[in-house]
This record gives sequence, C-alpha cells and structure tokens, in this order.
Amino acid sequence: MWIGSEKTTRIPFQSSFKSRLIVLSSLGLILFASLLLIKQNTNSQSEIKTLENPQRLPQNLPTFSTKFNPSLYHTNGTEVIYQIPNSPKAVLFIAHGCTINAYDFWDKSPNCPHCTGLPEERIFVLQALERNMAVLTISSLGECWTFKREMENVEWIIHNWIQSNKLGDLPKFAIGASSGGYFVSALATKVEFSSICIMIAEGVFEQIDIPKNYPPTLFVHMVKDKIRASAIGSNMAELMEKEIEVKEIRCEEFPPDAGFLAKRVPGLETELTVKLIEVLGEKGFLDQKGYLKKDGRGIKWKEALVEKKLIDEKFELFRHINEELNLAFAYHEYTSLKNDEIFEWFESHMKGN
Ligand SMILES: *[C@@H]1O[C@H](CO)[C@@H](O)[C@H](O)[C@H]1NC(C)=O
Repeated sequence: MWIGSEKTTRIPFQSSFKSRLIVLSSLGLILFASLLLIKQNTNSQSEIKTLENPQRLPQNLPTFSTKFNPSLYHTNGTEVIYQIPNSPKAVLFIAHGCTINAYDFWDKSPNCPHCTGLPEERIFVLQALERNMAVLTISSLGECWTFKREMENVEWIIHNWIQSNKLGDLPKFAIGASSGGYFVSALATKVEFSSICIMIAEGVFEQIDIPKNYPPTLFVHMVKDKIRASAIGSNMAELMEKEIEVKEIRCEEFPPDAGFLAKRVPGLETELTVKLIEVLGEKGFLDQKGYLKKDGRGIKWKEALVEKKLIDEKFELFRHINEELNLAFAYHEYTSLKNDEIFEWFESHMKGN
C-alpha cells in the first residue's frame, strides 16, 4: 500500500512526454521479462514431467531367448506347473497372491491350454528361466494360502518334485506375493531356502519361532501402503536383531502410459491402450499429472470401454490390464519392475544345501 501510493505520488500527473516514454518502456521491459520467465517455467515444468519417472520405467521389455514350455501335473489336490532350463543352477518356488493361481504365471500354449499369462507374473517367470532357475509354481487349495495342512502339502510337493527331477544339489529360493508372502515367510521354517523374497506382504513372524538359520529375506513393497510399510519395518528390525540379513526394495506409483501397457500385455493393441488412457482421463480417473486416483480394482474402466464399444463384455485381457493399472497405482500388486534387483539378491545368496 505504502509503496504503491509513494510511486503514484512520484510520477507527477503532468509528466513530460519523455518521462512517460521511460515509464512505458520500462513497463514493456517488465512485461517482456515476465513472459520470458513464464516461458522458462513452463519449459522446466514440462521437462520435469517427462523426467518424472520414479520407477525408471523400462521403455522396452527385456528380450527373452527362453520360451515357455512348462510341464503340468496334479498332486495332493492341486496343480503343479514347472519348467526346468537345460543347466539349472537353482530352484525357485513361487507362491501367488489371493485369486491368482499357478496358471497365471505361464503363457497359454499347447502344453498348458488353461494358462493365462498375467503380465507381471509371466515376465517374472521368463526372467527366472533366463537366469537358469528351475521354476516351480503351485496353486493354493483355496483362493488364498492357508497354514498347517497346506504347508505340509507344499513342503511335500517341493521335496518330491526336487527328488524326481534330481535337483537336490541346487540352492533353493522362494518368492511369495501378498498371501503367498505370508505363506513363504512361514514355509521358510520348514524348507531350507538359501534366501527368500516377500513381496507386498509382511511376514507372519508373530506366529512362528524364527530359527537362527532363517534365510536372508528381501522385502519388496509399495510405499503407498503405509500400514504394510511400517509392519515390514518392524519385521526387518526383528530379523536384524536375530542377525538375519534383510533388505527392502520400495516401489512407487507412476502414471499409466499407453506404450508401456501395450508392451507388457501380450496381445494388447497400442491403439486400445491409447483409447484406454483417454477414457481414464475423461472419466476423471486420473489426476492432473496423469496418475491414477484409485487402482484398477476401484474404477469401472471396463464398463467405460464397453460403453464406448471399444471392447465387449467377454474381453479376455481384463485381469491383465487391471493388474497393470494396479501396478501403476502402486498400492498392492505383483511387480516385475524390480526383477533385476530381486534376481541379483537371489544370486548373491546362492549357498547350496
Ligand atoms: C501327497 O500325495 C502323495 C502321493 O499320493 C502322498 O504320498 C503324500 O503323503 C501326500 N502328502 C501330503 C502332505 O498329504
């Protein structure tokens, strides 16, 4: 206020043409300078936007020389699907999350006509095979894993499978996601794993006695799930107190990207993913920066696409796209974005048994 009134009094009403010219040109200069500043600002903002990629999303999938060629059998009331590379150097057991099963880790093929190949699970298996791991997937008896009886069942299946395939000399690893993470944390007291990975879950350490030789444990989790992140923090403290090696990998959200989606979901056309992102925007499912406001489970994206006649009710990649949207929202989903770190963790803990 004071400065403003001072200024007006300093510029006399009857100023000469010359001083008016000076005032006008300096106003012009200020305007020009501010335009420059605004331009620079928007420039750097758009730079930030393209650089804003906390997960450093891979622009391309790794190339795989391995092909899916799994074997299947039924035992103890469940399905076992596995593949053993030519010269296996380790055994990897994978425990799925709730509502997922062994079929979701492998692409549909003549060997496995019921396989569904969910994007994150299939990439994980391919990379494990690529690293010469013999991969074993087992379906839980119900929607999620249970303990006691089912644990004995799986323990038996693993030992039996290792014996019949003569893999007994190899180190054993296990990874479990969500319900499978709880399961693996407990199974590690029964089966001698060289190391384990618990994904988007904390361990059930309150319900088990942690033995001295409990395997080195890697936690992969999504930081947006704060309650879980803090439970994992306590788990890590507890394990460290018992001198068990631990590590964590934290995953963050990213804006869903049409090219990224199309690359990760086999059989999905880029054209459709471009439309999908458009529809997500139109329906208000994205925030101003293009991040999802809720995960795939929480938005009616399929209905929106059906309404626009872009897909029909029986669209068979529904679960696949949903998974990728959950991955982008980064609250609770299987992720293959940290595979390199996960496999490096396993490979640096190759102690045989
Ligand atoms: C699983 O099935 C095999 C073969 O039928 C049987 O010998 C074994 O005891 C079963 N394991 C469990 C834990 O029930």
